[in-house]
This record gives sequence, C-alpha cells and structure tokens, in this order.
Amino acid sequence: MELSRCSLQLGFEKRITFIGGIVTNILITGGTGLLGVALQNSAPTGVQGYATCTPTRSLPLPLPFAILPADLNNYVEMKAIFQKSQPEVVIHTAAIGSVDFAEKNREITHKVNYEGTKLIINLCKEFNARLIFISSNAVFDGTNPFYSETAPVNPINYYGQIKADAEQLVQHSGLNFAIVRTIMLYGWQYPGGRDNPVTWWVRSLEENKPIKVVDNIYSKPLPAYSCAEVIWAVLNQNRSGIYHAAGRDHVTLYEFALKTAQVFELNSNLIEAVPDSYFPDIAIRPKDTSFDTTKMETELGVQPVSIIEGLKKMKAERFS
Ligand SMILES: NC(=O)c1ccc[n+]([C@@H]2O[C@H](COP(=O)([O-])OP(=O)(O)OC[C@H]3O[C@@H](n4cnc5c(N)ncnc54)[C@H](OP(=O)(O)O)[C@@H]3O)[C@@H](O)[C@H]2O)c1
Repeated sequence: MELSRCSLQLGFEKRITFIGGIVTNILITGGTGLLGVALQNSAPTGVQGYATCTPTRSLPLPLPFAILPADLNNYVEMKAIFQKSQPEVVIHTAAIGSVDFAEKNREITHKVNYEGTKLIINLCKEFNARLIFISSNAVFDGTNPFYSETAPVNPINYYGQIKADAEQLVQHSGLNFAIVRTIMLYGWQYPGGRDNPVTWWVRSLEENKPIKVVDNIYSKPLPAYSCAEVIWAVLNQNRSGIYHAAGRDHVTLYEFALKTAQVFELNSNLIEAVPDSYFPDIAIRPKDTSFDTTKMETELGVQPVSIIEGLKKMKAERFS
C-alpha cells in the first residue's frame, strides 16, 4: 500500500514530514532502559530510529533502533549523535531513575537529570527538533490523589525535585514539547538494566526468598509497553503539553506483589506486608501519587491496562 505523505508546520518553522501519520526520524535517549526498549519494540512501521546508551554499556542483545553510545552531559558526543540521526523528534527518557540513589548522590543526579535535560533542550533547538520529556509521579507530594495534569507539583524527595525542575526547563524552552509523566513502570529489563518491583519480586520468590513489601504506599503500576503506547499516541496525534500515563488498578505495593505471585504461580506466603517506616534508610516516598488518567483515555484514546493483564503479558513474553 502506498504511504500517504503530508507535512505539518511546527515550532521553529520546521516542516515535519509524516509518513502514514507518523514522524519518521526519532532519537530516543536511554535506549537500553526499560522504557527506551519498550518504545523501540512498539515503534510504528516506517519510523527510523536511533537510540543512545552510556559509553561503557555492553549490548548483549540486538535492539530495533541503531544504538549510539554517548554521555548525556558531553555536548560534543551528543551533538555528533544529533548530526547523525537528524531527529525530527527526541524522546528523552535517559535519567538516573532510582529515587534512593538520587537522594544519596545529589550532585550526579543533578548533572544527569537536570543538566542533561538542559543539553538535550539546547540540541533540540539547534536541530529544530520536537521534544518529548519523560517525567514522573514523584513531582507530587502524594497527599491528594488522583492527580490530574493541572494539579500543582510539590515534590518531597530529591529525585522528584529535580524532575520538577527539569519540567520547568522544558516548559520554558520555547520548543514544541510534550511532557509524559509516568508512574511505577514494570516489564523485563534489557540485560544489565535496572530491576523494577516485578522483576525483583519474581526473582526473589523463585529463589524461595522471603520479601517484605510496603502496604501503606499506593500506586497505579504501568507496564512499560503501555507507557510506550501513550508516548506514540502523543507523537502520532501531534499533542503538546502534559500527559499522565498510568495503569488501571489502584493498589498498595503489597497488593501488587500478591498479584505478581498469583500470575507467576509463586508462593505468596513468602510476601510479608510492612509499613514504609520499616525501611528507614531509603528516600521519603509520597504516600499516593496515583494519576487521574482521564486525559490519556479521552484525548489520546489509550485505555489503562489492568495489573493482571500487564503481568500475564510479561509472563508470556518470558517464555515466548
Ligand atoms: N521506572 C519507573 O518506575 C519510572 C517512574 C516514573 C518516571 N520514570 C522516568 O521514566 C524514564 C525511563 O525510566 P526507565 O525505568 O526506563 O529507566 P532505566 O531503565 O533506569 O534506564 C535509564 C536509561 O538512561 C540511561 N542513562 C542513565 N544515565 C545516563 C547518562 N549519564 N548518559 C547517558 N545515558 C544515561 C541508561 O543507559 P545505560 O543502560 O547505558 O546505563 C538507560 O538507558 C526516566 O526518565 C525515569 O526517570 C520512571
């Protein structure tokens, strides 16, 4: 079938070419991360992509996009990537994502998550690219769910503060931008990638290790593939502004762990419910930053996924 072509006039006078409704040149930062890989795996047909990783990253499995190593804070290296990829759109997922690491390592977190975003913004301006910035539920204080896109931010830990500051950079950049805030992602990570709650629970329970899981913090866990669907919808529909992405079920982490044991047919008796005060050393967590998903559902047409559905898909992927 012949692909239809049209052009839209976007920020900075750039004409962006769509093929069958889709922008063709995409650059994803954080191409080896949970979300970065999910984006590549679900990229619409016709999208040509490049994705970045850190310079020392090993790449034991092939990835759908061409992977280009670079330090996010190195302007020369990042500019070379922009020159090679000539992106029409940059999806900036790369970040230090561990809330506890961020709390204890503020200098490097500021450098990567704030200064890195500033560098990406400057390069987007130079190359006339649109920016999709991935932010977090951690910009909220967790006292007043369900949070809509217009709710005031009030972060209570360092990671959340830096995400909120980086959002400000994006919002005042003058770029054609969208901010997608995501919450508690889960899915199989690329080899060498960071664990998420589900991968950690499954591994522990398979090894018959007892685990303690917090029962007074709530979330709406989101499979990485569903978050990717939201981002592609934002792009495909040429949306700008802020969008919240979340799963359907509103649960405590303990309830999420029980559902994980159920779907993966593991021993739920090994899971003990504890309050967050049981882990005194970790960064303070907002109690309930769960999102209102009305905008995602009505404007983007993306339906939130239930935990059982997301976990079943994850289980099937492992053995396929
Ligand atoms: N995961 C969640 O539950 C969650 C919740 C809310 C918001 N978010 C946000 O969503 C985004 C994606 O999260 P994720 O879970 O997919 O992250 P992730 O799995 O931890 O992956 C992070 C990615 O960033 C790259 N990266 C880190 N530091 C870098 C640096 N200095 N230079 C270049 N690349 C660097 C990593 O590269 P290497 O693999 O080479 O190290 C990796 O590709 C992040 O912005 C995160 O803050 C995540």
